[in-house]
Amino acid sequence: MEQKTSQKSAGDGGQAAPALRTPTDLRPQATSEVAEALNALLADVYALYLKTKNFHWHMSGPHFRDYHLLLDDQATELFAMTDPLAERIRKLGGKTLRSIGHVHELAQLDDNDEEFVSPLDMLRELMQDNKAVAASMRKAHEICDDHKDVATASLLENFIDETERRTWFLFEATRSADESGH
Ligand SMILES: [Fe+2]
Repeated sequence: MEQKTSQKSAGDGGQAAPALRTPTDLRPQATSEVAEALNALLADVYALYLKTKNFHWHMSGPHFRDYHLLLDDQATELFAMTDPLAERIRKLGGKTLRSIGHVHELAQLDDNDEEFVSPLDMLRELMQDNKAVAASMRKAHEICDDHKDVATASLLENFIDETERRTWFLFEATRSADESGH
């Protein structure tokens, strides 16, 4: 059982099986470290995608339409990140996620399986999660910089901007009427 876990972990070097090691001029350590950071990020993006859809599906209240649509837009954006992140890892010869179990193993964000969550609590929780994802992206960017992996760094820069946009929208949507002046 323990052996199975270590095989799946992104912390075991991040290198793919020999037959799947895409040629690259980056050092093996670069592949390992970038793959490890991106796989953890990818797991969080999948977790946040499903949580955003969960809240989209279970939204309620007088702002239902606005919030329901906002979260659908955000979920679409999150899902669109997954393929470029996974393929970036493969381009470097790393191994990436294979299963929902692997996502569960690597994701840092907490699930929310509550029967009912109020609309504002949903938006606040997503705002915090997006902030955490932006911080993980910045850390991954530093690792890319260390290894001169400019392509992954460039990919992350756009994703950080999108993540900060989601955080901004969620922040504004959670402000009280008094605070926002409306
Ligand atoms: Fe929908």
